[in-house]
Parts: sequence; C-alpha cells; structure tokens
Amino acid sequence: MRVLAVDVPPQQLGVDAVAVPIAGGQPLSGAALELDRVTGGAISEVLGTGEHRGRPNEVLPLPTGDRISARRLLLYGVGSQADLDGQRLRYAHHEMVRAARNYGYRRLGLVCGSPLSGGDLGAVIEGCVMGAWERRSRQTGSRTTILDELQVAGFGTGREGEVAAALQMGEATNRVREWQNAPANEMTPEALAGIGREIAGRHGLNLEVLGPEELRAGGYRLLLGVAAGSAQAPRLLRLEHRGAGGTGPRLALIGKGITFDSGGLSLKPAAGMETMKADMAGAAVVLSALDVIAARRLPLDVMAVVAATENMTGPAAQRPGDVVVGAGGKSVEITNTDAEGRLVLADAITLALRRGATHLLDLATLTGAAGTALGHAGTLAVSNDDDLWRVTARAAELAGDRAWRLPLYPEYRGLLRSRIADLRNAGYGEAGAICAGMFLEQFVENRPWVHLDIAASSWNDNDDLTSIPRGPLGSGARLAVKLAELLAGSER
Ligand code: BES
Ligand code: MN
Ligand code: ZN
Repeated sequence: MRVLAVDVPPQQLGVDAVAVPIAGGQPLSGAALELDRVTGGAISEVLGTGEHRGRPNEVLPLPTGDRISARRLLLYGVGSQADLDGQRLRYAHHEMVRAARNYGYRRLGLVCGSPLSGGDLGAVIEGCVMGAWERRSRQTGSRTTILDELQVAGFGTGREGEVAAALQMGEATNRVREWQNAPANEMTPEALAGIGREIAGRHGLNLEVLGPEELRAGGYRLLLGVAAGSAQAPRLLRLEHRGAGGTGPRLALIGKGITFDSGGLSLKPAAGMETMKADMAGAAVVLSALDVIAARRLPLDVMAVVAATENMTGPAAQRPGDVVVGAGGKSVEITNTDAEGRLVLADAITLALRRGATHLLDLATLTGAAGTALGHAGTLAVSNDDDLWRVTARAAELAGDRAWRLPLYPEYRGLLRSRIADLRNAGYGEAGAICAGMFLEQFVENRPWVHLDIAASSWNDNDDLTSIPRGPLGSGARLAVKLAELLAGSER
C-alpha cells in the first residue's frame, strides 16, 4: 500500500472515494464544508436527515455527481470530539478503511479538517494501515479488495518522515495480528523462534535460542514444567539491539509466547478454547516491536525475550500440587496449571536479568480478570516503579495504545502465600490480574518493571463494541516502540 501526503484541494484528489470525517453533533468546517459546497450540499443533506450521525463505525458512501474528481464521498463517524483520543482515532480509521474495501475502493483520499487536525496525521495513517490489513486467508478461492493507495490532503507538506514512520508502525501492528491469528499447529514454539531468527538476521542482532537441553542446564524449570505436557519442544529466545553499545539503560521487552493454552490438567472448557491460539500475543508484540526498534536504529539497548511453549495435557504434564523451582530460585506450588503464563514469564524475566536488563516491560495475555476489569478497551497495567510507569503511560498516550495502572497493595501478597512453597501460582479469584502481576514482581529483583496484561485488549470478540475492530488487535506493539523511543530520548 502506498501512502502519500499531497497538497491538492480535496475536490481534485484522483481517487475512487474521498473519506470525510464526521464528529457527532458538530457542524461542518474546512475541507468538509468545501466538499459540501462543490457537491451541492450532499453532505449537509444526509447529516440533516439523520442518515449519518457521526457515530463511530458509521460509514456512508455518497455519489458526487461528477462534481469532483472522485466518484464517491465516504462519510465516516469518529464519535463525539470530546472522546476522540488516539485509540479512538486509529480504530475509527480502521473501520472506515475496512468499509471502503468492502465497497471495492482501491484508491482512497482523506481530508484533514475538523474533527481532525494536522497533528493527527500519524494516527490517521496508522489506523488506515491497520484497516487495510489483510488477514491471510486459509479458505480456497477467497478474495478481498486490496487498498492500493491512500492520499491524505491538507495535513501540510514535508512530512514524509512521519508518513513513513506511521506506515511502519501500522505494519508492525498488523504483523502482530497476523501472528496472533495463525493457528497453533502453524505457530509453534519453533515457529516463534524462526521469526526471532529472521528478525535477528535481517538487522544483524545478537540472538540466543535456548532449547530443552540449555533450559535444563540453566535451571529454567518453570518454563520446562509448563512445556512438559506438550510434544512441541519449548524455546526461550532472546535477541538484542545494542543501540547504545552498553551505555545507559538496558530495556528488556518480555513476551508470553504460549502458542496454545489448553489449560493443562486444569483443563479449560471447550467453548472458546480455539482463541487460545493467540496466547502468544505478548511474544508477537515484543518481536514486532524489536524489529521496528532495530530498523529505526534507536540509540538504546533493547532486548526482546520470548518464552515459547504450549500448555497441554499429557502423560508427562505437570500436575496441580507439583512444586517447581525455576531459574529465579523461588519454589512455586502449582495450584492451577492454567496459570501458566506467569510461570514461563518468571523464567524469562530471570533470563533478562542474567543478561543485564535494567528496565523491564512484560506483555502477556495473562488473565481473564483483565477483561473483567477493563474489557477490550484498554490494557491493564501494574508496576513497581512510578518513574517507569510515567514514561509508559506517556508512550501509551502518544501511541494510541491505552494502558491503565492498577495498584499493588501489600494486602494482596497473602493471595500468593503457599503452605509448602515460597509462592503459589494462582490466587483465589480475587484481584486476579493484580495477583498475576504480583507473582511476576517476585522475580524482578526490584528493577523498574511494568507489566501489561493484554489478555482482553489484544483481541476483541465482542460484537457490541462497535468502535473497536473485531478479532486480533496487536495491542502493545505501538506502546512498546514508543516507550523505547522515549527512553532513547529520540521521540519523533
Ligand atoms: N491465557 C489465559 C488468559 C486469557 C483468558 C487470555 C482469556 C485471553 C483470554 C491464562 O493463561 C489463564 O488461563 N489465566 C487464568 C488464571 C487463573 C487460573 C488464575 C484465568 O484468567 O482464568
Ligand atoms: Mn492459562
Ligand atoms: Zn495462558
């Protein structure tokens, strides 16, 4: 897909359709008003009749009667201007482009002007690129319209760098979505390692891939315990971009890479279990983010660590009641084999610390409780460090990739107490997402750390949330890149 920032009046855009953003209850102005005028009031008419109300996900094509170069106007809603943050902005453009493709438009124009402003260029392009995402079809003979070209007008000129950066971010998000979507018989732990190898090879990064033997030698028994029920060999991989050559902070991006989560012997119910192919979203995020970070040559040392395995049942599977000591040296009573994410992440955190990480950000589809708390509209965060959290929150805002922090009150520690080991891996249901975060905190050795639970924010399966796209969302990728940029002091 080509993206061009052009400097021509909207009525002269050589495209199939010109997209016009409409905010609920707001009068037309700027480019939209001009388009309304040259089309003889086509836009104000449908706003007046209530055929378009500017709601999110509301898209309406209008004939232009040959009065402008494009065949159609495409009105799309962004909701009320007051609610229009970076995430809403991106998702509104995602849904607009999906609709445009359904109408068969291959070349799309887009005009700046209220409710959009010049500063929204990056968000607009990222959203459009995400909407242009083509899920790799595994159906014979299926075809979808490809968006070939996006022309954005009125955002100002000389912004090629921003356009390229936004295209790159949108594509990085789409890669995560593609990997989330891949079935678990394709996206195996070794396949995740293969993605790591490919990225490391392309940028000349240091790469370590630990298999069962190396994991045993290194004492990574929490990861091995989860992997024990699977025929797929686990992988713990680490790749590093040494952008600062060993000076300054060393950021570790740590991803949960459960390529399928059956729950293990604490088996999940059958209904919906197929979505557990996406339990490697955190791994996908850190790999895709590191790819961008390396491509941009950010002046910061950043490593990606991925703990990859399946969580299956089987004759060798770990049992509820087992006690396992991982690389961090703490003993863990496995009270629920379905709380496997925190186990593999604990060992991944220990690897990152052993290799010199000073700041930690982990991303994981860790708990259903994250969805109970925030639904699909944002990522649940916990942190032990106000300074790192502040930068992370800023990154989330700039990236349009929401994250909301919950507390780690000391009272919750009791939920992880075990009679027979240092810790139990599952609490009692209360404060489930916090409890999972607090488990991880036991392994970070007081380093500044932020945990992002993307269990619900990375995949929307709720039809009623019309302002959030359906399916995999790739949440966390843009946030992770932005965080690295802010820490590198090279915010674009
Ligand atoms: N992968 C799941 C969490 C999840 C749930 C991700 C729904 C995406 C959608 C995780 O491994 C899990 O099973 N968590 C348990 C923890 C519990 C046993 C303490 C959960 O949330 O029920
Ligand atoms: Mn689980
Ligand atoms: Zn899981």
